[in-house]
Amino acid sequence: MDIHGLKNIAQRLMADDKGLLAMDESLATCNKRFKALGIPETEEFRRKYRQLIVTTPLLEESISGAILFDETVYQKTEDGVSFLSLLEHKGIIAGIKVDEGAVALAGFLGEKITEGLDGLRNRLEVYYSLGIRFAKWRAVIKIDEGIPTKACIKVNAVTLARYAALCQEVGLVPIIEPEVLMDGEHTLGKCEEVTSLVLKEVFNELYEQRVCLEGMILKPNMVVPSLECKVQNDVEAVAEATISCFLRVVPAAVGGVAFLSGGQPYELASKRLNMMHLRFGQLMPWPLTFSFSRAIQQPALDIWKGQDQNVKAAQEMLAFRASCNSAARRAAYKN
Ligand code: 13P
Repeated sequence: MDIHGLKNIAQRLMADDKGLLAMDESLATCNKRFKALGIPETEEFRRKYRQLIVTTPLLEESISGAILFDETVYQKTEDGVSFLSLLEHKGIIAGIKVDEGAVALAGFLGEKITEGLDGLRNRLEVYYSLGIRFAKWRAVIKIDEGIPTKACIKVNAVTLARYAALCQEVGLVPIIEPEVLMDGEHTLGKCEEVTSLVLKEVFNELYEQRVCLEGMILKPNMVVPSLECKVQNDVEAVAEATISCFLRVVPAAVGGVAFLSGGQPYELASKRLNMMHLRFGQLMPWPLTFSFSRAIQQPALDIWKGQDQNVKAAQEMLAFRASCNSAARRAAYKN
């Protein structure tokens, strides 16, 4: 394992107050978001949309890395320039989602396990040869009556660590995403309890499986009340719960922490990240940034609606939301 090379990639991803743009929606997820806006659910419209993103002027001022979906890796602009070379030209590091989605966990009603380990070593080698330098794997943990179970947390942690070890073997920095979902009515306190349990198990497995912490990035959920919880705690309470949880369970050696947005309103996600830096920036042993999909893309997608005449305005919105989150990393976000 080239520890020096992995550390270097992780450091570049976390440098200069930038963050990551997740644009790795699977076909099903991308089509679902298109459908809601009446955009044709075709490969050509997905190409057009991803072209809009990767050609956004000045995106590179706020974005250090972009996570792609396999289809996007091989796509080109109308002028025949591959998206990978466009990103490279902008100095944005290309990453790739390599999990194959979450499916029902046999024997555990309502819980899921993420698939994609079979043949993964070969797929990672191909991606590395194309110039991709990091990868992503998402596990989903749902809070509900009697769940998550210990078994669900354990198998997802084992799988995340297996994936991470394979990535590091070929020189890709693994982004490790154990997402505790916001769905339901649970409180902030419950989210904190479950997030702690999940992260403890994940880091235990990473240690057991000899994953180099300096050469990985954690992509966690913020510690938040669920979407339907009656008590919606203020921004400061969320920042405090999140950082105090992470200080207990995320080792200082980790290369970086980059949040998912998870369906939070996009301005609120920026405010919460901003507050973490404003109030607790001095306490953090790791760089802390964003790796948002919806909280950066959704307002731009709402403007685009699949129409060529809206591309420029959508790109301006995309660059603006990315810059808001970069500002939040400096505790300088003003909404
Ligand atoms: P959201 O920011 O929309 O939660 O997406 C992040 C992501 O990469 C999910 O895997």
